[in-house]
Amino acid sequence: MKFSLNPSRTLLGALALLASCALALAAQPIPHLAKRGMAVQLVVEGQPYLALAGETANTASSSLDYMEPVWPRLVKMHLNTVLVAVAWDWIEPAEGKYDFTLVDGLLAGARKNNLHLVFLWFGSWKNGISSFVPAWVKADQNRFPRVVIKSGQSIEVLSTFGPANLEADTRAYSAFMRHLREVDGERHTVVMIQMQNEVGVLGDSRDRSPAAEAAFAQPVPQELMDYLQKNTDGLGVDLRKRWEAAGFPAAGKWEEAFGPGPAADEIFMAWHYARYMEHMTKAGKRQYPLPVFTNTWIVQPEDTGPGDYPSGGPEPLVIDVWKAGAPSIDLNAPDIYLQNFPDWTARFHRANNPLFVPESRGDAGGAANAFYAIGQHAAIGYSPFGIDNAGRLVALRPEPGAPPPMEVENLPLPRAYAVLTQLAPLILEHQAAGTIAGAWVNDQRKAQSIALGNYTLNVDLRRNRRNPSQMAALGYGLFLAVGPDEYLVAGNDIQVTFTPTTPGPPIAGLADVWAGKYVDGKWVPGRKLSGDDVLLNYKLGEAAAQNQSGSGLMFGPDGPTIQRVKLYRYR
Ligand code: DGJ
Repeated sequence: MKFSLNPSRTLLGALALLASCALALAAQPIPHLAKRGMAVQLVVEGQPYLALAGETANTASSSLDYMEPVWPRLVKMHLNTVLVAVAWDWIEPAEGKYDFTLVDGLLAGARKNNLHLVFLWFGSWKNGISSFVPAWVKADQNRFPRVVIKSGQSIEVLSTFGPANLEADTRAYSAFMRHLREVDGERHTVVMIQMQNEVGVLGDSRDRSPAAEAAFAQPVPQELMDYLQKNTDGLGVDLRKRWEAAGFPAAGKWEEAFGPGPAADEIFMAWHYARYMEHMTKAGKRQYPLPVFTNTWIVQPEDTGPGDYPSGGPEPLVIDVWKAGAPSIDLNAPDIYLQNFPDWTARFHRANNPLFVPESRGDAGGAANAFYAIGQHAAIGYSPFGIDNAGRLVALRPEPGAPPPMEVENLPLPRAYAVLTQLAPLILEHQAAGTIAGAWVNDQRKAQSIALGNYTLNVDLRRNRRNPSQMAALGYGLFLAVGPDEYLVAGNDIQVTFTPTTPGPPIAGLADVWAGKYVDGKWVPGRKLSGDDVLLNYKLGEAAAQNQSGSGLMFGPDGPTIQRVKLYRYR
């Protein structure tokens, strides 16, 4: 047989091959979490990514028409990521018949506005309750068993002990994840998934349905006991205390291992919720392995015990139980509306649990929270709740005589996000290097000393120069050590002095302070600050006698703003 080459076809073939090689080279891995130096970060399109996010109200995303004007508003507010619900009920209204029109519409809306999405899977549970399951599940209590509480009453909460519940939710969730892979597996609009929302039993410390009672009478699964033994040193203090009080048993029933009472119930429920959600997460990741997190309803000050808050959710007490029972879940996140935000971030940020805050406040306090979580706890991102309503309700119901409502981009959180957007590449580098810190100060929590680089940063609320007992109500800052004697600081309503921690002259003074901004990743200096625009302590003699700096940085209430400072030292 004679074999001849057709030169034009050969050329076309070669070009096609080259093009497909280039495409393969250009294709980025799907969004994932990666350890970079000292931080675990979200990686999107091959680059570390800081999620400046917001979560829409629960049913906002059930209507594409409602969302239409919301997307561009979120862009104006400097969000790069939106957390939106996708409910089991919305995609499987009739059993086995999936409808992803809504999901596709949300993807289109986000893409049109260059936003990324995090889908919140409202399946078996949302705020503990099974309100977002399809009606055909709600109506068939025999097939889909519910939690039974002390009184013998069943409640509107699917039981973790119902295999049909798990099977049906897993089937729907897997179909959703398969669809996501098909429609977004290359585009990567969706960067993470939240599995359920605020799970746990309400109204009692545990499920008392017959299947739950039978499980409670069994020994603690060996897998959990083995995990506790292997990880004893790293366990959370509260769980460790309970196990220690019982004598660190290597086996036993729940109350033998963790003592009698509601805490054993909570640990028992945590294991079973974790196993249920592990099963679903694993099945979903087999379709499309995006990072997955949970969202915890944290204990409120007025709660008297588990059941007042959802019993079994990934609270600090039982987070280790979740790590043992649900290793496929990448992180357990808190939703924090309480005022003591810094305490809660510290409880959730652990060596095996990077911080993401999927729900919190979106006001001036929210701006402080975002700075603090990202600066002090290397958070992957921050996301206030009800972001679609920001500025909207004020505009709808103006108070008589009130000034016109602010443009949405001028609200405190968008201003904070605008600054974080400028700094994001630097923040991500410094999170990895461990050369970043954050401060969150109010009248309960002021005058913080932060060790960073070659200095201790003394951060306090901004005080009135003439009357220092008059101070701001809430201040916040984010600090990057950019050189041996140089810091980049972004903040609002704080003042900062510096104390050297390395050998040499003991007092730090301001060599050079610039206000400025980052444009396309480049520092653009503005005013050179001195005089009234920095902190000047005129009691120079007193300060010097105590080796304290007479001067420091000052951030006003109209920020956050960015300053770059070079220090010098003297005796
Ligand atoms: C916490 C829940 O997780 C959200 O879905 C929402 O219900 C808010 N509470 C409402 O404040």
